Amino acid sequence: MMARPRGEDIPALKQIWKAAFGDPDSYIDFFFEHRFSVQKAMVAYEKDKPVSVLYVLPCHINVDGEQHPAGYIYAAATHPKKQSKGWMGNLLHYAKSIAKEEDLAALVLRPGEPSLTRYYERHGYRTFFQESTAKFTRKQLLSCAKAGSQILPAFADVITAFRRHYLDGWEGSIQWEEDAVEYALEENTFTGGKNIFIRCPQGVGYALVGPGPHVTVKEWMAERGVFAYLADAILKQSEGETFTMRSPAGILRQEISKMSPGGMILPVSSPCIWRGKPPYLGLTLD
Ligand SMILES: CC(C)(COP(=O)(O)OP(=O)(O)OC[C@H]1O[C@@H](n2cnc3c(N)ncnc32)[C@H](O)[C@@H]1OP(=O)(O)O)[C@@H](O)C(=O)NCCC(=O)NCCS
Repeated sequence: MMARPRGEDIPALKQIWKAAFGDPDSYIDFFFEHRFSVQKAMVAYEKDKPVSVLYVLPCHINVDGEQHPAGYIYAAATHPKKQSKGWMGNLLHYAKSIAKEEDLAALVLRPGEPSLTRYYERHGYRTFFQESTAKFTRKQLLSCAKAGSQILPAFADVITAFRRHYLDGWEGSIQWEEDAVEYALEENTFTGGKNIFIRCPQGVGYALVGPGPHVTVKEWMAERGVFAYLADAILKQSEGETFTMRSPAGILRQEISKMSPGGMILPVSSPCIWRGKPPYLGLTLD
């Protein structure tokens, strides 16, 4: 049987998460306290016991210049003792049928590891999103950096508004509401990272800087000419030795960044085709 969970299933859902991903209890509790609701979860039951679960977090996708409701599939997991029996396959099928009922344009996800791409392809997903990845040593980032920005608190409403404007009309890209952005910021802080928002003569920019020494900047965006100031602010806030910086396509010159797969899509009520710049998913909780 597949259904939304009951409140009393929460300990079992936490156990599946722990057994499948091995995250600390505090991290799992953090999700359940800040982002979970029974309406966001879908569960496969074996004899009334949860064995497999996924969470569908609301988002919007830009289609034909308008934002349409979509769902981001997160933390899909089957208890290790119950894996390879088709539970998740059935749950993905169930998620699609609910998405159809709810008239979602698409379901999107980011495979936890590249090898899972084939698995999701078997269930109708295709790689759709791309992101720009640039790698720097501390010295290289220092050579790009310009001092003189004002580092301000990274408030979720400001970042949500900036992202919305930046990705507005960008066909196929995902837009996150303020609560999703707030959770991504809190999650980054919770795991030891820092969120940075800067203002400089050229404009504004922000970055979600993960913990070091090998730092992933989970997302950054900035107005033209701001990157050098953002680099300086990142170096001031992080003692990292290397920096992998992820952003939507086209912010950095191609010589210093490369495009990489940034997530998959299952079109539901819209064909979700893109023209022009490759669509961006971003702010996934990997
Ligand atoms: C991925 C996962 C959710 C699949 O659940 P499941 O109920 O076993 O799925 P199904 O029975 O429908 O399909 C099993 C198939 O998944 C594929 N698969 C599972 N893990 C895989 C991995 N890490 N890489 C590639 N393929 C994988 C295999 O093809 C497997 O078939 P096999 O056992 O015959 O080799 C489960 O393995 C799991 O919880 N893994 C750990 C957490 C995780 O990585 N979640 C995905 C986050 S995007």
